[in-house]
Amino acid sequence: MKQTPQKVLIVFGTRPEAIKMAPVIQALRTADDFFRVTVAVTAQHREMLDQVLRLFDIVPEYDLNIMREDQTLFEVTARVLQELEPVLREVRPDIVLVHGDTTTTFAAALAAFYLKIAVGHVEAGLRTGEKYAPFPEEINRRLAAVLTDLHFAPTVRARTALLQEGIAPEKILVTGNTVIDALYQVVRSDHRFEDPVVAAAVESGHRLLLVTTHRRENWGEPLASVYRALKRLVLAYPDVAVVFPVHRNPLVRQTVREVFTACPRVYLTEPLSYGEFANLMARSFLVLTDSGGLQEEAPALGKPVLVLRAVTERPEALEAGTVELVGTGEECVFNAAARLLSDSEAYRRMAAAVNPYGDGRAAERITAGLRNYFGLGPRPDEFSPACSVGHKVFQVPVGERKNF
Ligand code: UD1
Ligand code: UDP
Repeated sequence: MKQTPQKVLIVFGTRPEAIKMAPVIQALRTADDFFRVTVAVTAQHREMLDQVLRLFDIVPEYDLNIMREDQTLFEVTARVLQELEPVLREVRPDIVLVHGDTTTTFAAALAAFYLKIAVGHVEAGLRTGEKYAPFPEEINRRLAAVLTDLHFAPTVRARTALLQEGIAPEKILVTGNTVIDALYQVVRSDHRFEDPVVAAAVESGHRLLLVTTHRRENWGEPLASVYRALKRLVLAYPDVAVVFPVHRNPLVRQTVREVFTACPRVYLTEPLSYGEFANLMARSFLVLTDSGGLQEEAPALGKPVLVLRAVTERPEALEAGTVELVGTGEECVFNAAARLLSDSEAYRRMAAAVNPYGDGRAAERITAGLRNYFGLGPRPDEFSPACSVGHKVFQVPVGERKNF
Protein backbone atom coordinates (compact mmCIF):
# COMPACT_ATOMS: atom_id res chain seq x y z
CA MET A 1 0.00 0.00 0.00
CA LYS A 2 1.33 3.45 -0.86
CA GLN A 3 2.48 5.48 2.14
CA THR A 4 1.27 9.10 2.64
CA PRO A 5 4.39 11.26 2.14
CA GLN A 6 5.84 12.83 5.29
CA LYS A 7 5.66 16.63 5.31
CA VAL A 8 9.10 18.19 5.67
CA LEU A 9 9.38 21.94 6.18
CA ILE A 10 12.86 23.30 5.48
CA VAL A 11 13.61 26.68 7.05
CA PHE A 12 16.67 28.81 6.41
CA GLY A 13 17.57 32.44 5.99
CA THR A 14 21.19 33.24 5.17
CA ARG A 15 23.60 32.55 2.31
CA PRO A 16 25.52 29.66 3.89
CA GLU A 17 22.36 27.91 5.08
CA ALA A 18 20.93 28.14 1.56
CA ILE A 19 24.09 26.73 -0.06
CA LYS A 20 24.20 23.88 2.42
CA MET A 21 20.47 23.08 2.32
CA ALA A 22 20.17 23.21 -1.49
CA PRO A 23 21.48 19.62 -1.89
CA VAL A 24 19.09 18.44 0.84
CA ILE A 25 16.12 20.03 -0.92
CA GLN A 26 17.18 18.41 -4.20
CA ALA A 27 17.62 14.99 -2.60
CA LEU A 28 14.32 15.09 -0.69
CA ARG A 29 12.45 16.24 -3.79
CA THR A 30 13.70 13.22 -5.73
CA ALA A 31 12.37 11.01 -2.91
CA ASP A 32 8.82 12.29 -3.44
CA ASP A 33 7.24 8.90 -2.72
CA PHE A 34 8.33 9.45 0.88
CA PHE A 35 8.44 13.21 1.40
CA ARG A 36 6.51 16.33 0.52
CA VAL A 37 8.93 19.24 0.87
CA THR A 38 8.01 22.85 1.64
CA VAL A 39 10.65 25.58 1.79
CA ALA A 40 10.25 28.65 4.02
CA VAL A 41 12.99 31.29 3.92
CA THR A 42 13.15 33.83 6.69
CA ALA A 43 15.34 35.98 4.41
CA GLN A 44 17.50 37.03 7.33
CA HIS A 45 19.74 37.81 4.34
CA ARG A 46 18.07 39.22 1.25
CA GLU A 47 20.36 39.71 -1.75
CA MET A 48 22.93 37.13 -0.61
CA LEU A 49 20.16 34.57 -0.11
CA ASP A 50 18.48 35.33 -3.42
CA GLN A 51 21.76 34.71 -5.29
CA VAL A 52 21.77 31.15 -3.98
CA LEU A 53 18.06 30.53 -4.54
CA ARG A 54 18.51 31.57 -8.19
CA LEU A 55 21.55 29.37 -8.71
CA PHE A 56 19.91 26.24 -7.32
CA ASP A 57 16.47 27.03 -8.78
CA ILE A 58 14.76 27.06 -5.40
CA VAL A 59 11.44 28.89 -5.28
CA PRO A 60 10.38 29.02 -1.62
CA GLU A 61 6.72 28.47 -0.85
CA TYR A 62 7.06 31.02 2.00
CA ASP A 63 9.29 34.09 2.14
CA LEU A 64 9.15 35.90 5.48
CA ASN A 65 11.31 38.77 4.17
CA ILE A 66 12.52 39.78 7.64
CA MET A 67 15.88 41.45 6.81
CA ARG A 68 16.34 45.08 7.80
CA GLU A 69 19.46 47.18 7.39
CA ASP A 70 21.76 46.88 10.42
CA GLN A 71 19.36 44.49 12.13
CA THR A 72 19.99 43.43 15.72
CA LEU A 73 19.96 39.92 17.15
CA PHE A 74 16.84 40.84 19.11
CA GLU A 75 15.01 41.92 15.96
CA VAL A 76 15.98 38.85 13.95
CA THR A 77 15.03 36.43 16.73
CA ALA A 78 11.68 38.11 17.36
CA ARG A 79 10.73 38.42 13.68
CA VAL A 80 11.59 34.80 12.86
CA LEU A 81 9.48 33.54 15.76
CA GLN A 82 6.55 35.78 14.96
CA GLU A 83 6.52 35.23 11.20
CA LEU A 84 7.04 31.48 11.35
CA GLU A 85 4.09 30.71 13.59
CA PRO A 86 1.39 31.07 10.90
CA VAL A 87 3.54 29.11 8.42
CA LEU A 88 3.95 26.22 10.85
CA ARG A 89 0.23 26.26 11.61
CA GLU A 90 -0.66 26.21 7.91
CA VAL A 91 1.87 23.59 6.74
CA ARG A 92 1.61 21.38 9.85
CA PRO A 93 4.87 19.60 9.01
CA ASP A 94 5.88 16.22 10.40
CA ILE A 95 9.38 17.61 10.84
CA VAL A 96 11.13 20.96 10.48
CA LEU A 97 14.70 20.90 9.15
CA VAL A 98 17.07 23.69 10.15
CA HIS A 99 20.74 24.16 9.38
CA GLY A 100 23.82 25.22 11.28
CA ASP A 101 24.13 28.08 13.70
CA THR A 102 22.43 31.29 12.66
CA THR A 103 19.74 33.12 14.55
CA THR A 104 17.26 31.80 11.97
CA THR A 105 18.38 28.27 12.92
CA PHE A 106 17.79 28.71 16.63
CA ALA A 107 14.57 30.71 16.35
CA ALA A 108 13.06 28.31 13.80
CA ALA A 109 13.87 25.31 16.01
CA LEU A 110 12.28 27.13 18.95
CA ALA A 111 9.16 27.95 16.91
CA ALA A 112 8.80 24.28 15.95
CA PHE A 113 9.20 23.28 19.59
CA TYR A 114 6.44 25.68 20.67
CA LEU A 115 4.08 23.75 18.37
CA LYS A 116 5.51 20.36 19.39
CA ILE A 117 6.82 19.69 15.89
CA ALA A 118 9.92 17.49 15.54
CA VAL A 119 13.20 19.17 14.56
CA GLY A 120 16.02 17.83 12.40
CA HIS A 121 19.30 19.75 12.67
CA VAL A 122 21.69 19.60 9.73
CA GLU A 123 25.35 20.37 10.56
CA ALA A 124 24.80 19.53 14.21
CA GLY A 125 27.46 19.18 16.89
CA LEU A 126 30.05 21.82 15.93
CA ARG A 127 31.52 23.32 19.08
CA THR A 128 34.36 25.57 20.19
CA GLY A 129 33.42 25.23 23.86
CA GLU A 130 33.62 29.02 24.19
CA LYS A 131 30.42 30.89 24.91
CA TYR A 132 31.30 34.05 22.96
CA ALA A 133 33.33 32.59 20.09
CA PRO A 134 31.87 32.54 17.56
CA PHE A 135 29.17 34.91 18.79
CA PRO A 136 26.28 34.16 18.80
CA GLU A 137 26.75 30.99 16.75
CA GLU A 138 28.23 28.74 19.46
CA ILE A 139 25.17 29.26 21.64
CA ASN A 140 22.76 29.10 18.69
CA ARG A 141 24.13 25.62 17.98
CA ARG A 142 23.86 24.44 21.54
CA LEU A 143 20.31 25.79 21.90
CA ALA A 144 19.31 24.19 18.61
CA ALA A 145 20.72 20.86 19.84
CA VAL A 146 18.49 20.91 22.90
CA LEU A 147 15.45 21.43 20.67
CA THR A 148 16.44 18.78 18.11
CA ASP A 149 15.08 15.25 17.69
CA LEU A 150 17.36 14.13 14.86
CA HIS A 151 20.96 15.38 14.66
CA PHE A 152 22.78 15.20 11.32
CA ALA A 153 26.41 15.51 12.43
CA PRO A 154 28.84 16.27 9.59
CA THR A 155 31.82 14.52 11.21
CA VAL A 156 32.64 11.92 13.83
CA ARG A 157 34.00 14.69 16.05
CA ALA A 158 30.63 16.48 15.88
CA ARG A 159 28.90 13.27 16.90
CA THR A 160 31.27 12.92 19.87
CA ALA A 161 30.42 16.45 21.01
CA LEU A 162 26.71 15.63 20.89
CA LEU A 163 27.21 12.37 22.79
CA GLN A 164 29.12 14.29 25.47
CA GLU A 165 26.08 16.53 25.86
CA GLY A 166 23.95 13.48 26.62
CA ILE A 167 22.26 13.01 23.27
CA ALA A 168 21.34 9.39 22.56
CA PRO A 169 23.47 7.74 19.85
CA GLU A 170 20.45 6.58 17.86
CA LYS A 171 19.40 10.22 17.38
CA ILE A 172 22.68 11.09 15.66
CA LEU A 173 23.73 10.28 12.10
CA VAL A 174 27.18 11.17 10.74
CA THR A 175 26.52 12.39 7.20
CA GLY A 176 29.43 14.50 5.98
CA ASN A 177 28.84 18.17 5.30
CA THR A 178 26.36 19.06 2.57
CA VAL A 179 28.61 21.94 1.53
CA ILE A 180 30.82 19.40 -0.23
CA ASP A 181 27.76 18.15 -2.16
CA ALA A 182 27.11 21.75 -3.25
CA LEU A 183 30.77 22.37 -4.10
CA TYR A 184 30.92 19.29 -6.32
CA GLN A 185 27.93 20.60 -8.26
CA VAL A 186 29.45 23.95 -9.16
CA VAL A 187 33.25 23.67 -9.49
CA ARG A 188 34.26 23.03 -13.08
CA SER A 189 37.69 23.17 -14.72
CA ASP A 190 36.10 24.95 -17.72
CA HIS A 191 34.15 27.50 -15.68
CA ARG A 192 33.98 30.88 -17.45
CA PHE A 193 33.84 33.81 -15.07
CA GLU A 194 30.98 36.21 -15.69
CA ASP A 195 32.04 38.86 -13.20
CA PRO A 196 34.44 41.14 -15.13
CA VAL A 197 36.52 41.99 -12.04
CA VAL A 198 36.99 38.34 -11.14
CA ALA A 199 37.71 37.40 -14.74
CA ALA A 200 40.39 40.13 -14.87
CA ALA A 201 41.93 38.95 -11.60
CA VAL A 202 42.06 35.33 -12.76
CA GLU A 203 43.47 36.33 -16.16
CA SER A 204 46.11 38.59 -14.60
CA GLY A 205 48.31 35.62 -13.69
CA HIS A 206 48.88 37.06 -10.22
CA ARG A 207 48.86 34.75 -7.24
CA LEU A 208 45.42 35.39 -5.80
CA LEU A 209 44.68 35.80 -2.11
CA LEU A 210 40.94 35.20 -1.71
CA VAL A 211 39.54 37.05 1.28
CA THR A 212 36.17 37.07 3.08
CA THR A 213 35.29 38.50 6.49
CA HIS A 214 32.10 39.06 8.44
CA ARG A 215 32.28 37.62 12.00
CA ARG A 216 30.83 39.80 14.74
CA GLU A 217 33.90 39.21 16.98
CA ASN A 218 36.03 40.84 14.28
CA TRP A 219 34.00 44.00 13.62
CA GLY A 220 36.04 47.21 13.91
CA GLU A 221 39.75 47.13 14.80
CA PRO A 222 40.35 43.37 14.24
CA LEU A 223 39.08 43.71 10.66
CA ALA A 224 41.06 46.91 10.13
CA SER A 225 44.24 45.17 11.25
CA VAL A 226 43.64 42.23 8.86
CA TYR A 227 43.05 44.67 6.00
CA ARG A 228 46.28 46.56 6.79
CA ALA A 229 48.17 43.25 6.61
CA LEU A 230 46.63 42.58 3.17
CA LYS A 231 47.72 46.00 1.90
CA ARG A 232 51.26 45.31 3.06
CA LEU A 233 51.28 41.88 1.38
CA VAL A 234 50.29 43.33 -1.97
CA LEU A 235 53.05 45.97 -1.68
CA ALA A 236 55.65 43.39 -0.63
CA TYR A 237 54.81 40.86 -3.39
CA PRO A 238 54.34 42.40 -6.87
CA ASP A 239 52.99 39.11 -8.27
CA VAL A 240 50.20 38.95 -5.68
CA ALA A 241 46.65 40.31 -5.86
CA VAL A 242 43.82 40.28 -3.34
CA VAL A 243 40.27 39.40 -4.41
CA PHE A 244 37.79 40.35 -1.75
CA PRO A 245 34.03 39.90 -2.26
CA VAL A 246 32.77 42.16 0.50
CA HIS A 247 29.93 40.94 2.74
CA ARG A 248 26.89 43.24 2.68
CA ASN A 249 26.99 43.96 6.37
CA PRO A 250 27.28 47.78 6.61
CA LEU A 251 29.76 47.55 9.51
CA VAL A 252 32.11 45.37 7.48
CA ARG A 253 31.79 47.69 4.48
CA GLN A 254 32.60 50.76 6.55
CA THR A 255 35.97 49.31 7.64
CA VAL A 256 36.72 48.14 4.10
CA ARG A 257 36.11 51.69 2.81
CA GLU A 258 38.28 53.20 5.55
CA VAL A 259 41.33 50.97 4.99
CA PHE A 260 41.35 50.20 1.25
CA THR A 261 41.69 53.58 -0.41
CA ALA A 262 43.21 53.39 -3.91
CA CYS A 263 45.13 50.12 -3.48
CA PRO A 264 46.61 48.57 -6.61
CA ARG A 265 45.92 44.82 -7.07
CA VAL A 266 43.16 44.79 -4.46
CA TYR A 267 39.99 43.74 -6.25
CA LEU A 268 36.95 44.56 -4.10
CA THR A 269 33.69 43.06 -5.40
CA GLU A 270 30.09 42.60 -4.37
CA PRO A 271 29.32 39.12 -2.93
CA LEU A 272 29.76 36.66 -5.78
CA SER A 273 27.30 34.02 -6.87
CA TYR A 274 28.29 30.66 -5.41
CA GLY A 275 29.37 29.31 -8.80
CA GLU A 276 31.71 32.25 -9.39
CA PHE A 277 33.03 32.17 -5.85
CA ALA A 278 33.74 28.45 -5.63
CA ASN A 279 35.51 28.45 -9.00
CA LEU A 280 37.52 31.49 -7.97
CA MET A 281 38.56 29.62 -4.83
CA ALA A 282 39.67 26.70 -7.00
CA ARG A 283 41.97 29.12 -8.88
CA SER A 284 43.30 31.02 -5.86
CA PHE A 285 46.67 30.61 -4.24
CA LEU A 286 45.56 31.10 -0.65
CA VAL A 287 42.34 31.77 1.27
CA LEU A 288 42.18 34.18 4.22
CA THR A 289 38.83 34.12 5.98
CA ASP A 290 36.82 34.18 9.17
CA SER A 291 34.00 32.24 7.46
CA GLY A 292 32.92 28.80 8.57
CA GLY A 293 32.02 27.37 5.17
CA LEU A 294 35.32 28.28 3.53
CA GLN A 295 37.22 26.24 6.12
CA GLU A 296 35.31 23.22 4.82
CA GLU A 297 35.43 23.95 1.09
CA ALA A 298 39.03 25.09 0.63
CA PRO A 299 40.65 21.86 1.93
CA ALA A 300 38.60 19.86 -0.58
CA LEU A 301 40.08 22.06 -3.32
CA GLY A 302 43.62 21.75 -1.98
CA LYS A 303 43.75 25.42 -0.98
CA PRO A 304 45.53 26.44 2.24
CA VAL A 305 43.43 28.59 4.58
CA LEU A 306 44.56 31.17 7.10
CA VAL A 307 41.67 31.44 9.55
CA LEU A 308 41.22 34.97 10.88
CA ARG A 309 39.91 33.82 14.24
CA ALA A 310 41.25 32.72 17.62
CA VAL A 311 39.28 29.45 17.76
CA THR A 312 37.44 27.25 15.32
CA GLU A 313 34.62 24.75 15.63
CA ARG A 314 36.01 22.99 12.56
CA PRO A 315 39.31 21.48 13.83
CA GLU A 316 39.44 18.58 11.36
CA ALA A 317 41.30 20.55 8.68
CA LEU A 318 43.62 22.04 11.32
CA GLU A 319 44.60 18.49 12.21
CA ALA A 320 45.05 17.63 8.54
CA GLY A 321 47.43 20.60 8.32
CA THR A 322 45.64 22.49 5.53
CA VAL A 323 44.25 25.22 7.76
CA GLU A 324 46.06 27.47 10.23
CA LEU A 325 44.50 29.66 12.93
CA VAL A 326 46.22 33.04 12.71
CA GLY A 327 43.81 35.40 14.47
CA THR A 328 43.46 39.00 13.36
CA GLY A 329 46.72 40.65 14.45
CA GLU A 330 48.36 42.56 11.58
CA GLU A 331 51.80 41.00 12.11
CA CYS A 332 50.45 37.45 12.51
CA VAL A 333 48.38 37.66 9.33
CA PHE A 334 51.21 39.28 7.35
CA ASN A 335 53.83 36.78 8.54
CA ALA A 336 51.69 33.68 8.00
CA ALA A 337 50.77 34.72 4.45
CA ALA A 338 54.32 35.89 3.66
CA ARG A 339 55.69 32.50 4.68
CA LEU A 340 53.39 30.68 2.29
CA LEU A 341 54.14 33.18 -0.51
CA SER A 342 57.92 32.79 -0.03
CA ASP A 343 58.39 29.18 1.03
CA SER A 344 57.15 26.75 -1.61
CA GLU A 345 57.79 23.75 0.64
CA ALA A 346 55.64 25.22 3.44
CA TYR A 347 52.98 25.97 0.83
CA ARG A 348 53.13 22.49 -0.63
CA ARG A 349 52.66 20.91 2.79
CA MET A 350 49.47 22.90 3.37
CA ALA A 351 48.07 22.51 -0.13
CA ALA A 352 47.33 18.78 -0.06
CA ALA A 353 43.71 18.18 -1.03
CA VAL A 354 41.89 16.51 1.85
CA ASN A 355 38.21 15.90 2.45
CA PRO A 356 37.65 15.65 6.19
CA TYR A 357 34.23 17.27 5.83
CA GLY A 358 32.43 15.27 3.19
CA ASP A 359 32.34 13.08 0.13
CA GLY A 360 29.44 14.67 -1.78
CA ARG A 361 26.85 12.20 -0.43
CA ALA A 362 25.69 14.00 2.71
CA ALA A 363 22.24 14.93 1.35
CA GLU A 364 21.67 11.33 0.29
CA ARG A 365 22.47 10.17 3.85
CA ILE A 366 20.20 12.82 5.35
CA THR A 367 17.34 11.67 3.12
CA ALA A 368 17.96 8.06 4.13
CA GLY A 369 18.23 9.13 7.78
CA LEU A 370 14.84 10.81 7.55
CA ARG A 371 13.32 7.71 5.97
CA ASN A 372 14.70 5.69 8.84
CA TYR A 373 13.34 8.19 11.38
CA PHE A 374 9.84 7.79 9.91
CA GLY A 375 10.16 3.99 9.79
CA LEU A 376 10.43 3.96 5.99
CA GLY A 377 13.88 2.46 5.59
CA PRO A 378 17.00 1.06 7.31
CA ARG A 379 19.53 3.18 9.16
CA PRO A 380 22.00 4.30 6.48
CA ASP A 381 25.77 3.88 6.51
CA GLU A 382 27.60 6.86 7.95
CA PHE A 383 30.21 9.17 6.49
CA SER A 384 33.81 8.31 7.16
CA PRO A 385 36.58 10.56 5.82
CA ALA A 386 38.70 7.49 5.13
CA CYS A 387 36.21 6.59 2.37
CA SER A 388 36.06 10.05 0.84
CA VAL A 389 37.90 10.39 -2.43
CA GLY A 390 38.94 13.36 -4.55
CA HIS A 391 36.57 14.46 -7.25
CA LYS A 392 37.55 14.60 -10.88
CA VAL A 393 36.34 18.17 -11.50
CA PHE A 394 39.10 19.45 -9.24
CA GLN A 395 41.81 18.22 -11.55
CA VAL A 396 42.17 21.47 -13.44
CA PRO A 397 44.33 21.02 -16.58
CA VAL A 398 47.98 21.96 -16.05
CA GLY A 399 47.79 24.77 -18.63
CA GLU A 400 45.25 26.56 -16.43
CA ARG A 401 47.25 26.27 -13.23
CA LYS A 402 48.48 29.84 -12.97
CA ASN A 403 47.33 30.02 -9.41
CA PHE A 404 48.22 26.56 -8.25
C1 UD1 B 1 24.72 36.07 9.61
C2 UD1 B 1 24.74 35.03 10.73
C3 UD1 B 1 26.09 34.34 10.80
C4 UD1 B 1 26.49 33.76 9.43
C5 UD1 B 1 26.43 34.88 8.41
C6 UD1 B 1 26.71 34.35 7.02
C7 UD1 B 1 23.47 35.44 12.77
C8 UD1 B 1 23.41 36.18 14.05
N1 UD1 B 1 24.54 35.70 12.00
O1 UD1 B 1 25.64 37.09 9.97
O2 UD1 B 1 26.03 33.28 11.73
O3 UD1 B 1 27.80 33.26 9.51
O4 UD1 B 1 25.10 35.45 8.39
O5 UD1 B 1 27.00 35.40 6.13
O6 UD1 B 1 22.60 34.67 12.46
N2 UD1 B 1 22.85 42.41 4.66
C9 UD1 B 1 22.32 42.88 3.47
N3 UD1 B 1 22.00 41.97 2.50
C10 UD1 B 1 22.20 40.64 2.65
C11 UD1 B 1 22.76 40.17 3.86
C12 UD1 B 1 23.07 41.06 4.86
O7 UD1 B 1 22.13 44.08 3.28
O8 UD1 B 1 21.89 39.88 1.73
C13 UD1 B 1 23.19 43.38 5.71
C14 UD1 B 1 21.94 43.99 6.41
O9 UD1 B 1 22.17 45.33 6.70
C15 UD1 B 1 21.87 43.16 7.70
C16 UD1 B 1 23.34 42.95 8.00
O10 UD1 B 1 23.96 42.75 6.73
O11 UD1 B 1 21.17 43.83 8.71
C17 UD1 B 1 23.66 41.81 8.93
O12 UD1 B 1 23.02 40.61 8.55
P1 UD1 B 1 22.81 39.43 9.66
O13 UD1 B 1 22.19 38.26 9.01
O14 UD1 B 1 22.11 39.98 10.84
O15 UD1 B 1 24.28 39.13 10.15
P2 UD1 B 1 25.53 38.55 9.37
O16 UD1 B 1 26.72 39.29 9.88
O17 UD1 B 1 25.25 38.54 7.92
N1 UDP C 1 30.35 32.53 -0.72
C1 UDP C 1 29.72 32.92 -1.91
N2 UDP C 1 30.02 34.16 -2.42
C2 UDP C 1 30.89 35.01 -1.82
C3 UDP C 1 31.50 34.59 -0.61
C4 UDP C 1 31.22 33.35 -0.08
O1 UDP C 1 28.93 32.18 -2.49
O2 UDP C 1 31.10 36.11 -2.34
C5 UDP C 1 30.02 31.19 -0.16
C6 UDP C 1 31.18 30.34 0.30
O3 UDP C 1 31.69 29.53 -0.75
C7 UDP C 1 30.58 29.51 1.42
C8 UDP C 1 29.54 30.44 2.01
O4 UDP C 1 29.29 31.45 1.03
O5 UDP C 1 29.90 28.36 0.93
C9 UDP C 1 30.06 31.04 3.27
O6 UDP C 1 29.19 32.04 3.70
P1 UDP C 1 29.58 33.07 4.83
O7 UDP C 1 31.05 33.27 4.87
O8 UDP C 1 28.70 34.26 4.62
O9 UDP C 1 29.04 32.35 6.14
P2 UDP C 1 29.67 31.28 7.16
O10 UDP C 1 30.08 30.08 6.38
O11 UDP C 1 30.80 31.95 7.87
O12 UDP C 1 28.53 31.01 8.09
